[in-house]
Amino acid sequence: FGDQPLRGRRVVVSAGPTYEDIDPVRFIGNRSSGRMGFAVAGAARDAGADVTLVAGPVALPTPPGVRRVDVRSARQMHEAVLSAARGADIYIGAAAVGDYRPSETSEHKLKKASGAPLHLELTENPDIIASLAAADGRPFLVGFAAETRELASYAGEKLRRKGIDMIAANEVGGGKGFEVADNALHLYWPGGDESLPEMPKTDLARQLVARIAERFLSGSGT
Ligand code: PMT
Repeated sequence: FGDQPLRGRRVVVSAGPTYEDIDPVRFIGNRSSGRMGFAVAGAARDAGADVTLVAGPVALPTPPGVRRVDVRSARQMHEAVLSAARGADIYIGAAAVGDYRPSETSEHKLKKASGAPLHLELTENPDIIASLAAADGRPFLVGFAAETRELASYAGEKLRRKGIDMIAANEVGGGKGFEVADNALHLYWPGGDESLPEMPKTDLARQLVARIAERFLSGSGT
């Protein structure tokens, strides 16, 4: 396949955080900068794929040659990914999707109530990659797992529970994973695993995409 193993393939990548609005000025978010997912989108493009990047709120330029769809909330990302993934060959979920959102978004800015605790009720968001896993004719599914401890057991559990083809696990917290320029990944798939050591996210993304292409092509009979 030369250096373009994904030529003619359609790849969808999600990246960045989601913001779950509390009121017009406040939200629940997370520390994802989008760097890992944007690097993956660029690497998939370099591997010859036609790439759609569904991005949460981030401050990054679109990789040239990549189609970008901007979203804010987990529900918007769910809708955009499901629509982009129709007929796609591979989905790579690098986004840090908010697991919960406020049950209600206030129309007006919430006011302080004289020292009393403020209770916020949260509702679970849809699981994007698990929705794709449940669909007929689904793409090859690659998830990420962001963990602060017990990387291997949590990643293995996510691979099985979400019913996906590969998971790229990274340690986060304490200056690792989120926001920074470098990262390390441990890949798991049914029956195997491989460690990719710490390096710039752009290099890591290239290696990840090469491994994904190998596994995807060995399973697709091409
Ligand atoms: O953006 P950067 O600053 O470069 O940081 C990169 C990163 C640390 C965000 C990235 O490498 C990473 O680990 N992304 C996934 C973070 C995450 O939310 O992991 P999780 O373990 O909570 O979720 C597991 C998988 O399920 C992920 O593929 C996630 O996209 C997916 N998911 C989660 C919740 C949900 N509602 N829907 C999903 O599809």
